[in-house]
Amino acid sequence: MTKKRLVITGGSGRLGRFVVDRLKEKYTVTVIDRIAPAAADVAYLDVDICDLKAMTEALTGADYVIHLAAVPNPRTASEEACFEVNTKGTWTLLQAAETVGVKRAVIAGSDAATGLHYNPVGWPPQYLPVDENHPMRPSEVYSLTKEITHAIGKSFSVRGKLEVLSICPAHIVFEPEYPELGARGADVHNYHLWSYVAPQDVAQGFELALEVADGSFDSFYIAAADGLNVRPTLEMLKERFGEVPEVRDASVYENHPTASVFDINRAREKLGYAPKYTWRDFPQPV
Ligand SMILES: NC(=O)c1ccc[n+]([C@@H]2O[C@H](COP(=O)([O-])OP(=O)(O)OC[C@H]3O[C@@H](n4cnc5c(N)ncnc54)[C@H](O)[C@@H]3O)[C@@H](O)[C@H]2O)c1
Repeated sequence: MTKKRLVITGGSGRLGRFVVDRLKEKYTVTVIDRIAPAAADVAYLDVDICDLKAMTEALTGADYVIHLAAVPNPRTASEEACFEVNTKGTWTLLQAAETVGVKRAVIAGSDAATGLHYNPVGWPPQYLPVDENHPMRPSEVYSLTKEITHAIGKSFSVRGKLEVLSICPAHIVFEPEYPELGARGADVHNYHLWSYVAPQDVAQGFELALEVADGSFDSFYIAAADGLNVRPTLEMLKERFGEVPEVRDASVYENHPTASVFDINRAREKLGYAPKYTWRDFPQPV
């Protein structure tokens, strides 16, 4: 059987290379990025995702798209570049994909869209565990772009031509960060609320969203089952915020005291997501 054609934007990035490696045997993969991918055995197009004409040409013939290209945090580029690439780039990609008849796009959101990451005063989690219905209140540009990305994806989906699903990873930890994870887990003010995920598990989430039968718009938190926190999650939240936010499902933290602040049940139930990695197994400094 002929392989389906899959375009992966941002496939040369830190997460992108894991997604490419996971899917390149199953699909005919083309990477769109400004930088050539590490994998020499996939096609590559140097295209700016904000260029509609070039993107329409680049996506012609594609069956599926995974959209990872972005400025992935508010510190490595100007706020203007972050806003432009993440919002205009996502709109442009989806517009081009719809025009050329791509069946499904899976886009990268982020749990940062909740606004919880940089912990503005007065905005602790509104309840626990934090699921996809939790209110969003982003207060810096990257998190804001991820709320907008969500809205853009949903609007294309309701137009009815292009299926769009959104995978919202927690902070992705890559190997160079392993030695720091214990200290981050001991820090009561860890700015990701100790949530994290391995890139291999995020790649699993993208594959599942690409292939799930139900293509109606939805977003899914993809995190590890545990947090980086070295002590029970509720204990550390109390130290940080002075009180424990409302716990809607007490069994989560009773059964698993260091369970993540973010809830991955929707991904488990609808996609069949099952995280395979915990930082507690990663090699740590002696
Ligand atoms: N790293 C994390 O912790 C994390 C967490 C949640 C969500 N995400 C999301 O996952 C995705 C991938 O993140 P990452 O950490 O691999 O980032 P990354 O910076 O390593 O990779 C992004 C890639 O996008 C490419 N790119 C940037 N602007 C482009 C443009 N205009 N046209 C074409 N390509 C362009 C870059 O060259 C890069 O290879 C992003 O959408 C990010 O917001 C990341």
